Amino acid sequence: MTGPDRRPRRLRATPAMRRLVAETRLHRAELILPMFVREGISQPVPIRSMPGVVQHSLDSFRAALGEAAASGIGGVMLFGVPEHKDAIGSGATDENGILNVATRIAAAEVGSALVVQTDLCLDEFTDHGHCGVLDADGRVDNDASLERYQEMALAQAAAGSALLGLSGMMDGQVAAVREALDSAAYSQTAILGYAAKYASAFYGPFREAVDSSLVGDRRTYQLDPTNRREGLHEARLDIDEGADIIMVKPAMSYLDILADVAAESPIPVWAYQVSGEYAMVEAAAANGWIDRERAIMESLVGIRRAGAEAVLTYWAIEAAEAIA
Ligand code: PBG
Repeated sequence: MTGPDRRPRRLRATPAMRRLVAETRLHRAELILPMFVREGISQPVPIRSMPGVVQHSLDSFRAALGEAAASGIGGVMLFGVPEHKDAIGSGATDENGILNVATRIAAAEVGSALVVQTDLCLDEFTDHGHCGVLDADGRVDNDASLERYQEMALAQAAAGSALLGLSGMMDGQVAAVREALDSAAYSQTAILGYAAKYASAFYGPFREAVDSSLVGDRRTYQLDPTNRREGLHEARLDIDEGADIIMVKPAMSYLDILADVAAESPIPVWAYQVSGEYAMVEAAAANGWIDRERAIMESLVGIRRAGAEAVLTYWAIEAAEAIA
């Protein structure tokens, strides 16, 4: 017995060798921080199910933007939590609505260091909590929602958003928003299409983060978790409709979709590590059941390895500091 003649362990023997042969590397510029800004508060409000994440007041938002820019991450994705909600989500298109106000602040203060991005969806603004407007029978009305998205796109572009995150999952949303932007001379405003966004239980904590009043679920517009082919189909549609970047969401339970989409997309593919993914690791770590820092970095590198070129993550700043 002379022993094995193939010894992969040679390349794992020392930290220096492992570092040198690492196939996947995270860079700070590939991390994007989602942020919540709430109307009418003077102090930030902690989100119970997302320890370490808050609903910002405008003052705490300003401070957090400075921290985000200093950390070297690539961008921020803004969500608004309005004081008043109504059936059509009026706050989303009001230039003085919280998301548009926050966007103007971010664009002015950190717009050259970070890509300022905005969630383009009605659910934070509607009293029924759906991502679109409802028809007379209470069903989400696709085409009427597209008109609201167009108005929302113009408000966000005017406020200075560089990249609109279309997360509503209405059919034709990318084409409708592209057309509205181009006909209003916002041809430079880019579109991030949430191509493959699944109807996921892992959005649970987010609903608290935006004080969502949703009754029921989003299964008539978000993808069924059992479907793999459909993720690719949605991605192709968004690319055809003119998306600049496409997204797969959530991340960790959908790495196969991410790999499929990344293998064939001619445009950048990103992934969203959602609120429930954050909450699971934080909860396990708080119980002493998992090594928090290692789990965070392993989850991010796994999402990168599967094919995401950038990751939206609530750990963006902490991870950026760990990389640096
Ligand atoms: C819709 C939207 C959602 C998330 C981002 N955009 C919620 C949903 O579709 O129910 C979830 C993000 C997260 O869970 O971190 N505006």
